[in-house]
Amino acid sequence: MTPAPGPQQKIGLIGLGLMGRPMGLNLLKAGYPLTVWNRTASRAEALVAAGAKLAKSPREVAASADVLLTIVSDPPALEEILWSKDGALSGLQRGSIYIDSSTVSPALARKIAAACAERGARFLDAPVTGGTWGAEKGELVFMVGGDAESLKEIEPILGAMGKRWFHLGPNGAGQIIKLAMNMILALEVDALAEALALATGAGVQGEKLVEVMQSSMARAPVLDVKAPLLLKGEYAPSFPLRLMHKDLGLALDLANQIGVPLPATAAARETYSAVKGAAREDLDYAAVMKFWKK
Ligand SMILES: NC(=O)c1ccc[n+]([C@@H]2O[C@H](COP(=O)([O-])OP(=O)(O)OC[C@H]3O[C@@H](n4cnc5c(N)ncnc54)[C@H](OP(=O)(O)O)[C@@H]3O)[C@@H](O)[C@H]2O)c1
Repeated sequence: MTPAPGPQQKIGLIGLGLMGRPMGLNLLKAGYPLTVWNRTASRAEALVAAGAKLAKSPREVAASADVLLTIVSDPPALEEILWSKDGALSGLQRGSIYIDSSTVSPALARKIAAACAERGARFLDAPVTGGTWGAEKGELVFMVGGDAESLKEIEPILGAMGKRWFHLGPNGAGQIIKLAMNMILALEVDALAEALALATGAGVQGEKLVEVMQSSMARAPVLDVKAPLLLKGEYAPSFPLRLMHKDLGLALDLANQIGVPLPATAAARETYSAVKGAAREDLDYAAVMKFWKK
């Protein structure tokens, strides 16, 4: 079975966290029939109010879908929704396309691709960048691994949630680039926090550093967004530190498997680990600044 083109394709969405909810709303806005499931059912309310159908299990979502989309926190969460009792893989339709936008390991992406192939379905790993504001505005960027033809078929769906997508190679390639991308973001924000600690510790206001940085080569869009938060000490989660910490761990695991040393990433992960260990609430990864504000 080949999914019907355009908004007739029935979409199933599993994972209604910070990212999944706005992505689902954009799919509904574009006119796609949407069935959703979330472990904490109350998080589905906004989507159900906007027209989505609430399923009883991941299996039921997959069984209803021409195109299944998942976006959950980490590898254990993804394995749970796929392989547990009433998991999504047991309901996946032959000929359907499954897109996973969670950030997980490339090895897990390849394992899922093999499990989908056994069921006559196609799989794309398609993690995203752009943050919660990108998800809300429909301006995400997708990093896609898998076959080009399947990607072609789901481009209108990606277009309802994002502004660009890159085909990066076979299954796993999307996750490899995503992990490399997040290493850069984690190191950039960690570097700003460290530089602020030096400047303020030596007696110059942090605002001065940021002002000069904005006119220099060190300027970066992520720092435009995060610098004001670091200066104010406001860390409401947009991209939670627990997830950045997970991504640094995934990057280091991959590096270990292939024998590539990542000394700066390893050091940054120690800093993120210390803040994560001391945190009592869910914080944005900008809270890495707390390492110097004990
Ligand atoms: N936030 C960002 O800016 C951003 C940007 C790019 C990529 N990402 C990636 O996108 C993914 C989702 O991020 P998010 O910010 O939406 O995270 P989030 O707000 O923490 O949401 C996580 C989702 O995973 C579900 N989940 C967690 N453990 C589960 C389990 N064992 N079984 C079933 N469901 C489980 C949660 O369900 P409950 O509601 O029941 O907890 C929730 O739906 C992550 O892989 C993250 O790295 C996030």
